[in-house]
Amino acid sequence: MKKKILITGGAGFIGSHVVRLFLNKYPNYDIYNLDALTYAGNLENLTDIENVKNYTFIKGDITDEVFIYKIFSKYKFDSVIHLAAESHVDRSITDPLAFVKTNVIGTMILLNAFKDYWSSNFENKLFYHISTDEVYGTLSETGLFTEETPYNPNSPYSSSKASSDHFVRAYGETYNLPYIISNCSNNYGQNQFPEKLIPLFINNIINNKPLPVYGDGNYTRDWLYVKDHATAIDTIFHNGLNNETYNIGGFNEWKNLDLVKLLCGHMDVKLKRTPKKSEALITFVKDRPGHDLRYAIDASKIKRELGWEPSVTFEEGLKITIDWYLDNNKWLQNVTSGLYQSYYEKQYRK
Ligand code: NAD
Ligand code: DAU
Repeated sequence: MKKKILITGGAGFIGSHVVRLFLNKYPNYDIYNLDALTYAGNLENLTDIENVKNYTFIKGDITDEVFIYKIFSKYKFDSVIHLAAESHVDRSITDPLAFVKTNVIGTMILLNAFKDYWSSNFENKLFYHISTDEVYGTLSETGLFTEETPYNPNSPYSSSKASSDHFVRAYGETYNLPYIISNCSNNYGQNQFPEKLIPLFINNIINNKPLPVYGDGNYTRDWLYVKDHATAIDTIFHNGLNNETYNIGGFNEWKNLDLVKLLCGHMDVKLKRTPKKSEALITFVKDRPGHDLRYAIDASKIKRELGWEPSVTFEEGLKITIDWYLDNNKWLQNVTSGLYQSYYEKQYRK
């Protein structure tokens, strides 16, 4: 079946992998990538597919209501895969309102445009909202987040994502808008902006800079390789049930400090440095305010109902990721010049 899919945030980390997967796998779909190209959006992530016939890039902001309505009537998207967001917890602590604007208001504008365009006939239409496990709040040392875990967000980022999830669900209840939500754990892989733990630390190791571990480093995250998230999104988009939520995770929990030491070990080998050289860069710094202790996803529903599970082990995924950053020094240099420097100074000067 032919489709016209609007993917928002397709120039970002996860979005670029989703755009590429859909273009390669579904040559009969028209894929429209809408992205405002904020600091996190980068068309260099998509140079290999930019000339594909059924691909259209649209530069624009999801908070620009007039523009969003205009592109809906111009292109008549039958489906939306909505990834555009402000995505970094630390930035949400410094500038929470930016997160409300994009993640809440932007999502509302997309929902309204989709509803107003299709409300006479929602058949074969879908609004697929990409969310995060952080909406569930934090876990203690045991337990897993399931789809039934009550929302309990702790950061401005997770609150804005939780709020957008609620609106999506409410539009389903109120206007019969066909939607799906998925909540995924921490992603890592190629093209991740080096403000997030793994690429930031890879970049600092390359440059022999301190590795700023927040607090005592005893925080736990559940890591998933980004291309596995993209295949989960593909699976859910095509086979998921409307008005359902799916958790996506890697069954792969790591304490930050253990992960950082593993990363340091691999980097020493790759950079032909003496063992433990990179570990010596570890520096414990002031903790993130409201830092969630532990995230861990129970991804059994998506496995049981849709047959999806991660295909890449953490060991493999981390090596692919490290190799990519080492082979793409130009990409890394481009994204860490300019504004990145002032962000870094401000964030880590304390
Ligand atoms: P990212 O920050 O790398 O990319 C976000 C993209 O959205 C960028 O290309 C940016 O230019 C674009 N964007 C931001 N504001 C916009 C606006 N107002 N209008 C149009 N485009 C805008 O983020 P990511 O890590 O790729 O995350 C993508 C989505 O997945 C987000 O919704 C995030 O909440 C969710 N998510 C991320 C993770 C993770 O570990 N990174 C895990 C679970 C869920
Ligand atoms: O769980 C999914 C979420 O994962 C996504 O929704 C977010 O978009 C994504 O940013 C990520 O959030 P985290 O806050 O978990 O990711 P981050 O890479 O910022 O941090 C991972 C852990 O590492 C966290 O416990 C904080 C810690 N950390 C992070 C940075 C940037 C440090 O110790 N030092 C750092 O410099």
